Amino acid sequence: MIDGRTAGSPLVEAFRGRRTNLLPVWFMRQAGRSLPEYRTARAGTGMLEACLTPALAAEITLQPVRRHGVDAAIFFSDIVVPFRLAGVDVEIASGVGPVFAEPARTRADVDRLTSSAKQLDDARLAPVSEGVARTVAALGRTSLIGFAGAPFTLAAYLVEGRPSRDHLGARRLMHTDPEAWTALTSWAADLTGAFLRAQVLAGASAVQLFDSWAGSLSLADYERHVAPASARALAQVRDLDVPVVHFGTGTGHLLRAMRDVGADVIGVDYRTPLDEANRALGGATPLQGNLDPALLAAPWPVLEAAVKDVVVRGREAPAHVVNLGHGVPPDTDPDVLTRVVDLVHSLA
Ligand code: CP3
Repeated sequence: MIDGRTAGSPLVEAFRGRRTNLLPVWFMRQAGRSLPEYRTARAGTGMLEACLTPALAAEITLQPVRRHGVDAAIFFSDIVVPFRLAGVDVEIASGVGPVFAEPARTRADVDRLTSSAKQLDDARLAPVSEGVARTVAALGRTSLIGFAGAPFTLAAYLVEGRPSRDHLGARRLMHTDPEAWTALTSWAADLTGAFLRAQVLAGASAVQLFDSWAGSLSLADYERHVAPASARALAQVRDLDVPVVHFGTGTGHLLRAMRDVGADVIGVDYRTPLDEANRALGGATPLQGNLDPALLAAPWPVLEAAVKDVVVRGREAPAHVVNLGHGVPPDTDPDVLTRVVDLVHSLA
């Protein structure tokens, strides 16, 4: 057992489907621009450089735990970090998102990208392992969640080279050249799976696979062209006995399929009420979510009622970890997040 790993915490218990007397809560994108201390820590340092500086990544990961008293930290990193570590030319442009210098639009692009040189090993993953180990040592009893991007969401950036609205490029490639698509998503699965594995081996207590853009797929295309790669990524942590959360947005029609690739917990976005998600999943899967991030800007009585509604609907599931239905908006008042944590903890 890795020192500091929090096997019996309320968060991990809930991920295992067991309720404790504390209702756990954390926020996707809790480490980031909503916090003045984050903006100070990041000043003058590029996003990916910050992710790959272990002491800085650990400090930023700890900031929301100190400030809000959330029940989990999520490692400060990004879904494109494994690609940078494998030698792929990628940046995170401020206000834009991931930008790849050489998009994977054709079979030849895919072959170049997935060449034997662009792989990961322990040495290349060392900044991640060290960042996680430092974080876990400082966290004490609070759990650290490791994470990675799912192959489809990664491909949505890799094919277009930058963020896109409906991920048409990725959806086109899967139909026009299924072999190139399989090569691209298998390679992405291996890199993203290695990134997950490194975080668990360094002490993360759970992991979350983000397939943020999977909602742009039909169920049939998800099952045929995407699920095998997501299962391949998750297979890399199967033997490590940590709970796996699987999250996407606009995925009300994919919840079962997303569980069946090997997830223990389903992260639900704000569009599907948790009682409905629970029914869709047959009542046997712990849930995470799902307050609409827009509500963080609402008057307190409106927000309070919405939090209570999420908690009441979440009681239908075997267990529930309170979260947003997507990330914290950068202009959120941090005091509101702290108040939500206190409210959730008073409800249990
Ligand atoms: O607090 C946390 O949740 C942990 C850190 C985290 C980041 N990115 C840090 C980050 C996590 C879990 C991610 C995952 C991620 N990255 C996803 C999946 C989750 C989701 O939001 O759907 C995706 C799609 C990405 C790709 C990405 N990285 C985008 C779309 C952006 C936003 C671009 C922008 O500037 O608005 C990023 C940059 C990024 N990742 C920031 C942070 C804190 C902002 C960078 C900055 O502060 O300059």
